[in-house]
Amino acid sequence: MFRFYVNCHNWTPSQNEWLQATRCITQTELERIHKFVFQRDAKFALAGQLLIRYLLAQALQRKSSSFEIRRTEYGRPFIDSPEKFDFNLSHHYHLVCIAGTFHGLIGCDTMEYRVNTKPRESIESLTDLLRNEFTKNEYDYILKKSSDVNVHFRHFYRIWCLKESYVKWLGCGIGFTLARMNFCIQTDDFDESDAQQVLSDTKLELDNAPLKDDLRFDEQIIPLENNEQQIIAVCLSNKNSCQPFIELTIADILQGCSPLDETKQADEKWWKNFQTMKIK
Ligand code: COA
Ligand code: MG
Repeated sequence: MFRFYVNCHNWTPSQNEWLQATRCITQTELERIHKFVFQRDAKFALAGQLLIRYLLAQALQRKSSSFEIRRTEYGRPFIDSPEKFDFNLSHHYHLVCIAGTFHGLIGCDTMEYRVNTKPRESIESLTDLLRNEFTKNEYDYILKKSSDVNVHFRHFYRIWCLKESYVKWLGCGIGFTLARMNFCIQTDDFDESDAQQVLSDTKLELDNAPLKDDLRFDEQIIPLENNEQQIIAVCLSNKNSCQPFIELTIADILQGCSPLDETKQADEKWWKNFQTMKIK
């Protein structure tokens, strides 16, 4: 299986990079990406589309331009291939990450985990707001393991990320009642001294019963700048190996992608459009 991420936070695209990237993805995606108001959103969405093609090229050993990537009615990207390869993308905070497998379906989500900015609201107000989305067991894990509010937030993001990874494995998008999922955490916190640690012991109960599907949840912490951290959760079949995510640069990804039409030059309008977007 394959797990990659790229830190897009400090990526300031050059004209050359942006235009090279636009040659590697479809018109439909280009139009979607260039409708964003903020440069940040366009940058993350573009990196996501490139990362999908990079992953497919690596996994299926074909040119990135050879794939027809479609979306389900719920917006989930997929390819029709005899190899039965599934993948799932997530972008949030500083990272864009992707996981792909030949063994069943996969769901991937990432969230901030340890951040330096002060929370805008108290964890109690947040969990009050989401009281309906968490089980008693999850609520206790978030609030009762420590008196440190920063730990509360980390535990909150961890459970949220796990829930999202399962919803993304299902592929149904919003509409799934989140409190039907009860995540039972076995290892309360990550081992700070092991940068490559992947936790795989978290269990999911659905509608108060152990999950019938043979699924596993792999969780990993990715170090960011200034001692911040982000969490990635992957929901996948037990048949997959347990392995850490590999970090890529935008240059690596661009190198692994090829233009959809080699004879066509890049259209500079995409760069001009990106330049007119707001910088957050
Ligand atoms: N299922 C799985 N993956 C999907 C999807 C779906 N229905 N729809 C889109 N995706 C993929 C796409 O690649 C998308 O990126 P792209 O549009 O740039 O190609 C990517 O997942 C988005 O994932 P992420 O970056 O993690 O965003 P998100 O966490 O905001 O979105 C969805 C998750 C896609 C499932 C979305 O439907 C959603 O908003 N779910 C929220 C459900 C909820 O209430 N969660 C609370 C958990 S406690
Ligand atoms: Mg998400």
